[in-house]
Amino acid sequence: MIFLYKMGPNMNDSLYLTTAVRAARKAAEVHKRYFNKESFVRTKSTHFDLVTRADIEAEQAIVKIIKEAFPRHNIIGEENEYEKTSSPYTWIIDPLDGTNNFAHGLPVFSVSIALALENELVAGVVFDPLRDELFNAQKGGGAYLNKDKISVSPNSALSQSLLITGFYYDRAAAMRRTLENIQSFFSRGIIGLRRFGSAALDLCYVACGRADGFWEFNLNPWDFCAGALMVQEAGGRISDNNDERLGIRPSYIVASNGLIHKQMLTVLREED
Ligand code: IPD
Ligand code: CA
Ligand code: CA
Repeated sequence: MIFLYKMGPNMNDSLYLTTAVRAARKAAEVHKRYFNKESFVRTKSTHFDLVTRADIEAEQAIVKIIKEAFPRHNIIGEENEYEKTSSPYTWIIDPLDGTNNFAHGLPVFSVSIALALENELVAGVVFDPLRDELFNAQKGGGAYLNKDKISVSPNSALSQSLLITGFYYDRAAAMRRTLENIQSFFSRGIIGLRRFGSAALDLCYVACGRADGFWEFNLNPWDFCAGALMVQEAGGRISDNNDERLGIRPSYIVASNGLIHKQMLTVLREED
């Protein structure tokens, strides 16, 4: 199990979560202002790694709320760098997860905000503004979709599984490997495979039992931290492809309902 809970919830825990929710809703206002309107700004690492006005303004809106509430906390955001402080707390922010969908008018995207104390995730929020689905979790407090407690699926057979994957921004070795993995999973008779384009939501869909498992070759902490807490608190499992605990650093991600985790790892390791 990763990110083990070492302490009981304290008074600040709910303040952390309410701040994350407030920030996520503010970011969603930005998303809605620009969705289906021209907001393209530039490309990042490649011509398919896009940045829109919504990415930038949503991050500014989130950071403003966090800084007002917790001025000493550290921040890791996808779109900007922030001065390091001596605080043990770090907010990990993806202001718009699913930018390629967003930029094409495809209505599948989210905002993802997590809080870590040292290396341990303590709160997480993933908000899908178009479906008004607010996934939220606190360490030791369970995971929720809006006000309803969620849990992972009870399915224990890989052959009965619906899986989700994502394509890391690399069209060479990582892409080849992912395509081989897809073929191996289908040869094991999986029910189906989806690629939605927002890793944060993909993880929440595993957490609430809409899918049995998810993997992606390489994700950044802002893509997976909030969703990782959601999966754990919903009774699932998340690790890297060697079944190691995740840190707050880029990582190969394998998430599941726990019951099919070993079966997924076996397939994902086949090409090693
Ligand atoms: C991307 C999405 C996508 C995943 C990519 C991520 P972005 O995040 O989560 O589903 O496949 O690896 O980079 O760029 O839209 O924030
Ligand atoms: Ca992302
Ligand atoms: Ca993003």
